[in-house]
Amino acid sequence: MSSPAASSKAPRLGTLVLFTDRPGQHLDLVRALGEIAPCHVRDAAAVAPAGDCIGFVADLDLLQPLQLRGLRALIAEAPHLPRLFLMRDLGERSLSVARSLGACLSLPVDTPADQVAEAMRAHLESPLPDLVRSTRQQGRSAVIAQAADEAGAVLAGMLDSARLTGKVDPMLVEHGLDPILGAVGEAGLGAWLDTVRAYDDATYQHCLLVAGLAATFAIELGFSRRDREHLVRAALVHDVGKARIPIAILNKAGPLDAEERAIMRTHAELGHAILVEAGGYDDSILAVVRHHHELLDGSGYPDGLSGDAIPDIVRLITVCDIYAALVEHRPYRAPMPTEEALAVMRGMEGKLDMALVHSFGRAVSQG
Ligand SMILES: [Fe+2]
Ligand SMILES: [Fe+2]
Repeated sequence: MSSPAASSKAPRLGTLVLFTDRPGQHLDLVRALGEIAPCHVRDAAAVAPAGDCIGFVADLDLLQPLQLRGLRALIAEAPHLPRLFLMRDLGERSLSVARSLGACLSLPVDTPADQVAEAMRAHLESPLPDLVRSTRQQGRSAVIAQAADEAGAVLAGMLDSARLTGKVDPMLVEHGLDPILGAVGEAGLGAWLDTVRAYDDATYQHCLLVAGLAATFAIELGFSRRDREHLVRAALVHDVGKARIPIAILNKAGPLDAEERAIMRTHAELGHAILVEAGGYDDSILAVVRHHHELLDGSGYPDGLSGDAIPDIVRLITVCDIYAALVEHRPYRAPMPTEEALAVMRGMEGKLDMALVHSFGRAVSQG
């Protein structure tokens, strides 16, 4: 095993692989990954045994299938390996291929090498792969994985449509409701969160997390089937405006700066405009999309609503949304444990509806 002098953290057992067809451009990345574990550069078209590989990074043209043979063979042999994709092209087709290859994270190709290495380290240190594996051994994962695929396809369709046409047909959203409610009802929130957290890019992961949390919360609150569906519907579309936010901001491997944050915050109004343009959404869904970042003390956005001006359904989604943001994978930090995330939310008295935070806490603690 190599022992790079620059690292303060002990190298791991096993090796990392960098799949690329332009190794000369990634010397920094090979060095940064080498501080985690010895890093081998491989041609993704050539098939080789997985050996002691513990994770890989891919920098490839994902629209050239023949170039991906070796990478696909590695995934087939070791389906649970953490994997990061450096995206040369941030088009939806390439992102879809990355997701279909199980991307833990898709980053712009010019992401600094140390941030890519940190993201890999965070994924290696996460217990998720083991959880996913044990979930699979319990035979629940097929249901969850299929539901996540179906809901993910609905989400992809929604975001594509919003990006390309500025509208989303309300009927499209309906196809996502049953898979999510069925999967969460059958296998529980924990299995849903583990599956979704392990396999999607930032926006997909987040929207599917919020939808699963909304399903769980609706069950905890004793909602009727119709009301459960409505809450999941609201959750699925709540961030549809992100379809109009540059992907380099959405998937940035680090905290946003002030200018980027201001751009990101426009997603609430953009999402509202997309649904109004489409027509067919009721007022409560429109309110969720526009107001899910409002806070009870008036310090939220985009309209600075306060107190009673914020409808109950919006408050419910806001609670799910904030919790999801705390517990999801970010390239620059590990997911926050449930209890810690709930403590953060209990500290938001005056901003969040505390009665809802407490019942939400009961719902996710049972997950
Ligand atoms: Fe949002
Ligand atoms: Fe959100």
